[in-house]
Amino acid sequence: MSAFSTRPLLEGKQLPLLVQADDAAGTPLGDVVPMLRDTVDRHLPDCGALVFRGFSVNGPDAFRTFATDFGHPLLNYEFGSTPRSKVTAGVYTSTEYPAHQHILLHNEQAYTRDWPMKIWFYCMQPAQEGGETPIADSRVIYRDMPQPIRDRFVEKGVMYVRNYGKGIDVPWQQVFGTESKSDVEAYCARHGIDCEWKEDDELRTRQVCQGVACHPITGEWVWFNQAHLFHVSCLEPEVRESLLEIVEDEAELPRNALYGDGSPIDDDTLETVRSVLETHKIVFPWQVGDVAMLDNMLAAHGRAPFKGGRKVIVAMAEPNRTFE
Ligand SMILES: [Fe+2]
Repeated sequence: MSAFSTRPLLEGKQLPLLVQADDAAGTPLGDVVPMLRDTVDRHLPDCGALVFRGFSVNGPDAFRTFATDFGHPLLNYEFGSTPRSKVTAGVYTSTEYPAHQHILLHNEQAYTRDWPMKIWFYCMQPAQEGGETPIADSRVIYRDMPQPIRDRFVEKGVMYVRNYGKGIDVPWQQVFGTESKSDVEAYCARHGIDCEWKEDDELRTRQVCQGVACHPITGEWVWFNQAHLFHVSCLEPEVRESLLEIVEDEAELPRNALYGDGSPIDDDTLETVRSVLETHKIVFPWQVGDVAMLDNMLAAHGRAPFKGGRKVIVAMAEPNRTFE
């Protein structure tokens, strides 16, 4: 007897695949892991995103156990780019950006060279309005990107420049989880990040990362960078202007993205990138107790603006290192 059935959540869309519990009383999600494993192994490399619905999940600890049961310890949100709070070991709040803002589609930590292969979301409380976690197939985005743009990203990669703190962006102590400069240097050395101390103990990091990536299991190419989130064109025009007035030099912006050779990426290119992402955005409403499991390379995710309390928590696992 099977405890669940599968079908596409949205008609005509390959992702996400819905894994629906048969029992209306809500079988504990943790109890069906041995049976789910086969389903996950079979479908996740195809569709990139699964939604488990109708099971019972008893809070963040049960969510953590479920995510861990896929065989990899959960990752800490190291070298993060956005504010999050820890809920329980390896489990975090989703990004704490103001409710009215969109978070554009992205692959988690695609601005690094060792990203998580898996990411899970658990909806403890859907928003009253909006608050979905839109997703998109990163293979389709790669294929649909105009070739001249794709070629440049393939060839040059992306350089991420970050200037921490100064009351503008997350301080380095929070990003690296330490007060120690030598710990930061050691972390950067281990992860292929250039770091530079400036006056007043301020920190700048630079890292050249991939623009696209090849999935280690399926061998498929995916669009895999966060230039569209780090680039100065991501800011509202007024914010961009006033920030540039404060920092005076583009190199001092809290964050920016350049091509890997240090040459600028023009605004129009990223406008096109954002519109390709937008075209392939898939939106589905959260239901309380839903758990989504994404292959972080095959599927990108974002966040829609929302009203009312929303509680979606996140776990990540299985680092993929692209360098030694
Ligand atoms: Fe994210």
